[in-house]
This record gives sequence, structure tokens and C-alpha cells, in this order.
Amino acid sequence: MTTTPPSPAAVPAAPPTRRVCVVGAGYVGLTAAACLAHLGHRVRCVEADPSRLAVLRTGGVPIHEPGLAELVSQGLAGGRLSFASEVAPGLDGAEVVLLCVGTPPQPSGEPDLSSLARAARQVARAATRDLVLVVKSTVPPGSCEALELVCADEAPPGVRLRVASSPEFLRESRAVEDFLAPDRVVVGAEDDEVVELVAGLYPPASPVVRCDRRGAELVKYAANTFLAVKVSFANEVARLCDALGTDAATVLAGVGADHRVGPAFLRPGPGYGGSCLPKDVAGFIALGGSLGAPTPLATAAQDQNEMARTGVATRLELALGSLAGRRVAVLGLAFKAGTDDTRDAPGLHLVELLEGVGAEVSTYDPLAAPVRGAGRRASTAAEALVGADAVVVTTPAEEFASLDPRGAAAVMEGAVAFDAAGVLDLASWTAAGFTVYGIGRGAPLGFHPVVWPPLQWTNVGATVPAG
Ligand SMILES: NC(=O)c1ccc[n+]([C@@H]2O[C@H](COP(=O)([O-])OP(=O)(O)OC[C@H]3O[C@@H](n4cnc5c(N)ncnc54)[C@H](O)[C@@H]3O)[C@@H](O)[C@H]2O)c1
Repeated sequence: MTTTPPSPAAVPAAPPTRRVCVVGAGYVGLTAAACLAHLGHRVRCVEADPSRLAVLRTGGVPIHEPGLAELVSQGLAGGRLSFASEVAPGLDGAEVVLLCVGTPPQPSGEPDLSSLARAARQVARAATRDLVLVVKSTVPPGSCEALELVCADEAPPGVRLRVASSPEFLRESRAVEDFLAPDRVVVGAEDDEVVELVAGLYPPASPVVRCDRRGAELVKYAANTFLAVKVSFANEVARLCDALGTDAATVLAGVGADHRVGPAFLRPGPGYGGSCLPKDVAGFIALGGSLGAPTPLATAAQDQNEMARTGVATRLELALGSLAGRRVAVLGLAFKAGTDDTRDAPGLHLVELLEGVGAEVSTYDPLAAPVRGAGRRASTAAEALVGADAVVVTTPAEEFASLDPRGAAAVMEGAVAFDAAGVLDLASWTAAGFTVYGIGRGAPLGFHPVVWPPLQWTNVGATVPAG
């Protein structure tokens, strides 16, 4: 694997614009399609879901991503972006096809690749010229090689389909920004011509990491597993901080200030969620299992995350005495602030746990659409708080950070605030009469008083027995 720094020799300043087909108009596909059109390519984006397609065809955008609606409408207006419901008309002379369909987890931890295989078959059957298929979906190593065999079986005689891996690393809520200014672009392909074609699709100054296909596929799994390990490590430190009565945010800032560590993802909270981290950690573990290469670190991150997720409900129960019949307002249903995506979100998981033990739950989220069966949905945070015995904040949305504690106290029945996101101002909420619980903020519940030899020695000072 080699890293090529952006240089005029490695990545041409103005690579040729291409005719591109993007299959799947979700967070990854729609972002890629709109950004590639913005970069000058002619893009046809295929979306199988009729309701998503209907929104796109009327100039709307079915997901929340800052800057995406503007790029989509510019692309449509400039004639560089269009949408199709099926692959065959979607190919429309394309020389490269990006596969961006979902690869959701199965109970075994392995991803379900059936949508991807279906999409590749559709492309192969409809191909009328040689094509390069680029897998942007997250897939286990070996998938691109397998897809190439599937394509060879399905393609018309004389048509050659080569499959490359170029996993996507965008963050939801910053998808456009990340696509247009990536930390790196990873391209896995066996031949130079394909690498050049795929790398040339991206913004010209992008640093390119070139590898073989298995390596490229593994980069994505390994990167997400590493991020999950960081989150779980932060929660492990937070647990120690609760027991010690010290502040995890400060401790972790001290840890992350070391450039070898970095501050990102070192934030205590209710566990990681979303459509990627839990799925990709499970996929990484399943991969290790199938290869006979154990992955105990990833398993520990997963276990720690489960503790973080259930820990909020457990500690809330301690704070309230019992959860049955208690009214709890859960603020934050998306998996993080700034997105509408509720897939595998800690907030939703919490609602399920609370309702499972008989609590009455009201919910609010600034961006996420209502989720069927997940509590009583309020249209404002203030409305969710009315009559609640406790409020739990699960994401660091700005709106939650600026909640007025006096207003909250006036409408709530109880005075318990559980700040799992670390955004509430402890002093003003306490002044408004709340007992504020958090993660790694020095637990008011007090897990255990510290009985730790060095502190004992310090406390007894000169009375430490000699010898
Ligand atoms: N969401 C992220 O932040 C993110 C980031 C990096 C990588 N990924 C990976 O990218 C992949 C896609 O993720 P996503 O979040 O965009 O998924 P998504 O579910 O939001 O979008 C997938 C879209 O593909 C469409 N689709 C499925 N089969 C199709 C077909 N045959 N023809 C046309 N459309 C089809 C679906 O209707 C859906 O709209 C996954 O493998 C995911 O792990 C996601």
C-alpha cells in the first residue's frame, strides 16, 4: 500500500470529466452524485425507492445534509445531474458506475450484500460497453473480487466489467464538505488505468491511498473499528472519572491534546450508534472469525458500547428509584447531532429500554422524523418536558445546550436531568433545582467512594507505617 501525496504528477490538475452512473441515492450515493456533478462530471443517479425518487425528481432532497440541496439543484439546472428509477436507462453511456447501496448488518454480524449483488447484476446485464464498477458501499475484503465474477457471468459477450474498491469515509451532517475535501481517497484496483480513472473522479488535490482491492476494503472496516475503540475508550475513562469524582471531558482533553492521539471521538456519551460504526465493528469481528484471526480489541469496544448504552437507563433508574410508571423526556433520537438519521441510535435504544420497563416516554429531536412506536413525539423540546419526572439528553444538539433550565423546571414534575451528551450547563441547571447526572462528570450518585492505595497513603501522610 502506498500513499501518494497530492502532487501534479500523481493526480492531474484537471482530470477528464466522465460520464458516471451512481446506483443508490442515500447519504453516500446522493452526496457522491451531487458532488461529482459539481466537479464537472455528467452524472445519472439511479434510485429504486419510489418515494425517495419522487422527492428527487421534484427538486427536493430526501435526507438532511447541509449544502446538498444546493448542489442537487445546481446539478439539475446545469444538466450535469439527472435521476433514473432503473439501472438500464441510468447507464446512459456511462464509463464508470459507483455502487452506493446499503449493506445492513445480519444477526451474525456479517453484512447483507444482497442489494449490492443485485445492483451489480443489473449493471452487468444492462452494460453495452466495457465499464469500471466502483464499490463505495462498505463491504468485507474479497467482495469486489466476488462481484467481478458475478459481473463476468452476467455481462453480454465481449463486454468487460472491472470492479474497483473506493470506500466512502464521509460523516453524516458533513457529507458534502467531506466529499469535496477528503482526508484521503482510497482506491483499490489491480490495474493502473482503473486507479487513474477512479482517482480522477475526486477533487483534484485529494491525497490518494492506492492499494489492492482487499486492502482498500479493509481500510474502511479498520478505520471505523478504530473510531469505535476511541469512543469506547472514552467511556471507559469516563467510568473511572465517575468513580474518582473528576471530570472526564477535561481528562480526555488532556489525553487528546497529544498529537499522537488526537481529540476526535474522545468524548464520553451514551455509546456510538448510527448505520456504520456498530455494523462495521460487527463486520470486522465476523471477518476475523471467518479468517481465524481473533479481534479481541474490537470485541471489547463492542462490549463497552453495550455497557454505555444500557448504562444510561440503569443510572436513571437509580436516580428515580424506579422507572415503571415514571415519565421520562428523551431529547435526541438521531444517532448524533446535526443529522436526521435514526438508524441504530442510542436515543432510540434508550426509549425502547425505558418503555420495556414501563416508563412513559415523550421524545423530541430537531431533525429526525418521528419513529413509529418510539414514545410520544413532541414538536418542541419544551413540549416533551411537560409533566416529565426526568429529562435525558442523548445528543449534543445546540438546541439542547441552550435549553432554559428555569423553563424546564416550571413545566416538569420532577427535577432530574441526565445529560448523557455532556452539553447542559451544570451550574445553571443545579441553580434551577435540578440534580444533574452525567457521564464522567463526577457522579452525584457516587458509584463507590475511592479506596485506592495511593490516596490512602496520601491521606495518612506521616502515619504510613515504616518498612
Ligand atoms: N451513511 C454514511 O454515513 C456512510 C458513510 C460511509 C459509508 N457508508 C456505506 O455506504 C453504503 C450506503 O450507505 P447509505 O447510508 O448511503 O445507505 P442508504 O440506505 O441511505 O442508501 C442506499 C440507497 O440505495 C438504494 N438502492 C438499493 N438498491 C438499489 C438498486 N438496485 N438500484 C437503485 N437504488 C438502490 C436504496 O433505495 C437507498 O435509497 C453502506 O454500505 C454504508 O455502510 C455509509
